[in-house]
Amino acid sequence: MARVALVTGGMGGLGEAICIKMVALGYKVVTTYSPSNKTHESWLATMKDQGYNFTAYPCDVSDFDSAATCIAAVERDIGPVDVLVNNAGITRDMTFKKMDKVNWDAVMKTNLDSVFNMTKPVADGMVDRGWGRIINISSVNGQKGAFGQTNYSAAKAGVHGFTKALALEVARKGVTVNTISPGYIGTKMVMEIPKDVLDSKIIPQIPMARLGKPEEVAGLVAYLASDEAAFLTGANIAINGGQHMS
Ligand code: CAA
Repeated sequence: MARVALVTGGMGGLGEAICIKMVALGYKVVTTYSPSNKTHESWLATMKDQGYNFTAYPCDVSDFDSAATCIAAVERDIGPVDVLVNNAGITRDMTFKKMDKVNWDAVMKTNLDSVFNMTKPVADGMVDRGWGRIINISSVNGQKGAFGQTNYSAAKAGVHGFTKALALEVARKGVTVNTISPGYIGTKMVMEIPKDVLDSKIIPQIPMARLGKPEEVAGLVAYLASDEAAFLTGANIAINGGQHMS
């Protein structure tokens, strides 16, 4: 029977590529969209026209109860979640001098609390069934820090702390937990960086001298979700064109 893969934030640049890759591999792919997102129906229709059938549920990943309600609906309608990809995330970039609590909290809740909120309702089931994959999308900026991203870098670094701790707890239960740390990928999030900053400050830091492609990250997600990756857990895999080597 096809495994169920749940990808949060599947309608963003990275999430969409992950959904497409996973459905092509035969997973039943479920994604979430923010309850305030009014474009989910047109996205689903566009995907369907391209031959991709996804199911989408409203979910505020930053809210514990909303996440629990979403997972309950997915399990009722589709089945237990075998692969969870915690991909949803936001930026609120500004120097620390300008950073206020609203923008600190928004990023911590959406990028870090969300990982707890979404993993909590699925982890026990994975352990009970003896198979599961939790894949957390972090960032090169959680590894090295980034100008204007005290909030984002802190949340993304926290994601990998979560990965390592949970990986230990479920290691003997057939469940792996890993972090992927993409560098600058050609998504809307990165394209929102002022062009002069991107061209003068960021691209020159990337030895490959280009942005990554969403499909390149999706391929790594697919590998981590596979049976072949059963011995790989607690890792933080960098995919950043050589920008940061640890
Ligand atoms: N490194 C070093 N110095 C920098 C810098 C950088 N990356 N960016 C800006 N500066 C310097 C500027 O040159 C400027 O210097 P002077 O005062 O000497 O002229 C000073 O900092 C102020 O810069 P700005 O005018 O840009 O300040 P601002 O308040 O208008 O904007 C900012 C600050 C919002 C952080 C803006 O610089 C910015 O958007 N930077 C990009 C942040 C970034 O990389 N975000 C990543 C988003 S994508 C993502 O997060 C996905 C992922 O996981 C990789």
